[in-house]
Amino acid sequence: MLQSPVRQLCAFAVVALFFVFFFSTGLSYHFDGEARILSGGIPCQFLQYVVLKTISPVEFPLDDPTRRTIIVGDIHGSYIYFRALLDKLSYNPSSDVLIHVGDILTKGSHNGSMDTLDFMTTHNITGVRGNHDQKVIEWRAWLAWIGTQQGGTRWLAQTQARWETATDEAENDLDPEEWLKDEINKRKEHRRWWKKIPAGWKLFGDHFLVAQDMSEEQAAYLRALPLALHIPSAHAFIVHAGMLPSDPKYKPTHPRQPLARVPKLPRGKGKAANENEKTQVLRTLQELAVLAEVPQNTVPYNLLNLRSIVDTKVTKDNFGKPWSKAWKHDMLRCAGFDKDLLMPPTSVKPVQELLPCYPATVVYGHAASRGLDIKRWSIGLDSGCVYDRRLTALVLGSKGAEVDEDEGDDVDTMRRFVVQRDGEEKDEDHAEKDQEEHTDDYDDGDESKDEEASNKKNKNKTGSVRFGDAHQGRIVSVSCS
Ligand SMILES: *[C@@H]1O[C@H](CO)[C@@H](O)[C@H](O)[C@H]1NC(C)=O
Ligand SMILES: *[C@@H]1O[C@H](CO)[C@@H](O)[C@H](O)[C@H]1NC(C)=O
Ligand SMILES: *[C@@H]1O[C@H](CO)[C@@H](O)[C@H](O)[C@H]1NC(C)=O
Repeated sequence: MLQSPVRQLCAFAVVALFFVFFFSTGLSYHFDGEARILSGGIPCQFLQYVVLKTISPVEFPLDDPTRRTIIVGDIHGSYIYFRALLDKLSYNPSSDVLIHVGDILTKGSHNGSMDTLDFMTTHNITGVRGNHDQKVIEWRAWLAWIGTQQGGTRWLAQTQARWETATDEAENDLDPEEWLKDEINKRKEHRRWWKKIPAGWKLFGDHFLVAQDMSEEQAAYLRALPLALHIPSAHAFIVHAGMLPSDPKYKPTHPRQPLARVPKLPRGKGKAANENEKTQVLRTLQELAVLAEVPQNTVPYNLLNLRSIVDTKVTKDNFGKPWSKAWKHDMLRCAGFDKDLLMPPTSVKPVQELLPCYPATVVYGHAASRGLDIKRWSIGLDSGCVYDRRLTALVLGSKGAEVDEDEGDDVDTMRRFVVQRDGEEKDEDHAEKDQEEHTDDYDDGDESKDEEASNKKNKNKTGSVRFGDAHQGRIVSVSCS
């Protein structure tokens, strides 16, 4: 299972609020649950989720010929390569919109994380939070909370001073977890403090240090990052890890799936609107329903960590079927809202499998070991910069095709990192240690031929990719070594 019971518990509270959000007019809300320490777990208050923000066409100028939208993959504090990518793109803040897919922080150098956070905060860059940014947010909330405990600030300062002395005196790098284990054994009298560190949290690890070093402004920037961005004008989502098109426990055509039913037009919206406007309203409603009603998408932890589907369960592991495959499976069956005219839009699928929907696009990061993963209707941008591979951006807008230099470089990336066929990953060096062991065991099923053909259709040697209904984007990257 992907989420621990405590997270699940917190998530239920979030889901309840999500629905409040969903039926209200606000564009975002903050989780403001009361402070409760659930024994051994993460108190809801530390999670500080903002579920969803909606992006207007001005903030995502897909159809403006004078502007570009640049969506950058997982930076992980690799600030110099991030700047190199912006240079390569001749990034111009006055005409370009920059968006990140989360995991801007940690794993790279500490000062690289601080520089990246400074850039993002100073320029108020749009983005979503990644699972590592989330840990920084949680530590920051914990630091504030421990400061409210009688003697907490002093205990933390003394413990941290001992840790720093120990690292200064050690010949090799000390592991804060090992050191802490010793401390906990040595200092039983601090028991009441040790109990205040939530299970699994790494005191004095880099997430802690970034949380401690960041300014209040930077903390506010991070906390404002939502789990998902919805761009109705582009029929697109940006999430860090992924989302499901339908609940895998039921067939995609089951009436409980949001994509299997045409949403109801809100009262008063029907009369004035022409057919095209009506379709746009319904598409937007259906897209929001996928986020709000597919049960797995209502668990915040999943949006931050999801990688695969195994049987009918979601997992953060690399083995199993990539969620993006399920996404594509359903999107290719979207045949529009008009029941009588249900026509397969992209390829011939059996009529009984068609769905009354329109496809939506997901741009995401998180899956470094799968690398750049371009499918029709989903674009995975984590090409493993922090593992010395590449930092990748998707460039959209009419100006998107203009890149001055180094074309061969990008074509090379495409060849090396695009998952060209299911089960055949172009992930050469497997740098990601904690994932090295996993074997890929994809369900190659009925989609593999489609997959191959559509990957060919969806990108070509110039680094151009299809985006959304009828747009072209471009993949641009820099080497991180
Ligand atoms: C971080 O600091 C080190 C040493 O002080 C320096 O070599 C490195 O370039 C810095 N990195 C960034 C991204 O600022
Ligand atoms: C950052 O931008 C968002 C909208 O994208 C806005 O709501 C927020 O107030 C801005 N924050 C700052 C500090 O300017
Ligand atoms: C690749 O896509 C671009 C942009 O649509 C197009 O101009 C170009 O002709 C395509 N190249 C090939 C080989 O299909």
